[in-house]
Amino acid sequence: MTTITMKTAFITGISRGIGKAIAEHFLREGYQVIGTSTSGQSPIRHDACHCLALTLDQSAAIKAAIQYVADQESNLNVLVNNAAILLEDWSNPTIDMDFLRRTFAVNTIGTVELTEGLLPFLVPKQSHIINMSSGWGSFSEEGFGAHVPHYKMSKAALNMYTKLLAERLRVQGIKVSALDPGWVKSDMGTQAADRHPAEVAQEILNLLHDKPSGHFWHRDQIRSW
Ligand SMILES: NC(=O)c1ccc[n+]([C@@H]2O[C@H](COP(=O)([O-])OP(=O)(O)OC[C@H]3O[C@@H](n4cnc5c(N)ncnc54)[C@H](OP(=O)(O)O)[C@@H]3O)[C@@H](O)[C@H]2O)c1
Repeated sequence: MTTITMKTAFITGISRGIGKAIAEHFLREGYQVIGTSTSGQSPIRHDACHCLALTLDQSAAIKAAIQYVADQESNLNVLVNNAAILLEDWSNPTIDMDFLRRTFAVNTIGTVELTEGLLPFLVPKQSHIINMSSGWGSFSEEGFGAHVPHYKMSKAALNMYTKLLAERLRVQGIKVSALDPGWVKSDMGTQAADRHPAEVAQEILNLLHDKPSGHFWHRDQIRSW
């Protein structure tokens, strides 16, 4: 008798926007999804989807999410660090220390803390960590401007973590990638954006097929950091 084990994807921020589309795509591909939102609620109704309450600037909540994975004896094939915040006015270049601390707490420190805690559950040679970055985290952004400094710094640091982790996990065969999704329709991106969350979700699935580790991706191509 053969036992079919479902692959599992852990995806942060599945309540709306890009994260919701990513979760829906993974469910359609037959994955079991452990997702998160700040409330523990998600509009996705699917037997294979469980949504945890997780606020990434709270260590206790991160530890509880990791404990859930341990209690379920789940092996993770995919971790998508999608959840993030953008607090600032898009045109303001000045630094506000409160914004800087809060943005790093979620987009960088909490994301790293969650990732490090989930590493023991990632299947060697068969798993992939995808960090949702941004063109606004890049050093090579065309027409670079001084606006959105807190968010840009938080994503640039996440990019460096991506490269560091890819090197560290190379021997275990665990891949680590960063993705620049472009400008995407969501609460964060607004409805004026030119891309749909489903396009980005498909690009994440594409990344799982024979792509090299340690790169920054955009529209299925490696882009410069
Ligand atoms: N949209 C764009 O144009 C664009 C461009 C470049 C990069 N990105 C990146 O793509 C990712 C998804 O963006 P989006 O546009 O889908 O954003 P969004 O619509 O604002 O959704 C954000 C998601 O993150 C969760 N979240 C918010 N604050 C959180 C916190 N403190 N702790 C844990 N989770 C939290 C939200 O959960 P609740 O519903 O519970 O608040 C929600 O599920 C982000 O990493 C973003 O930086 C987006």
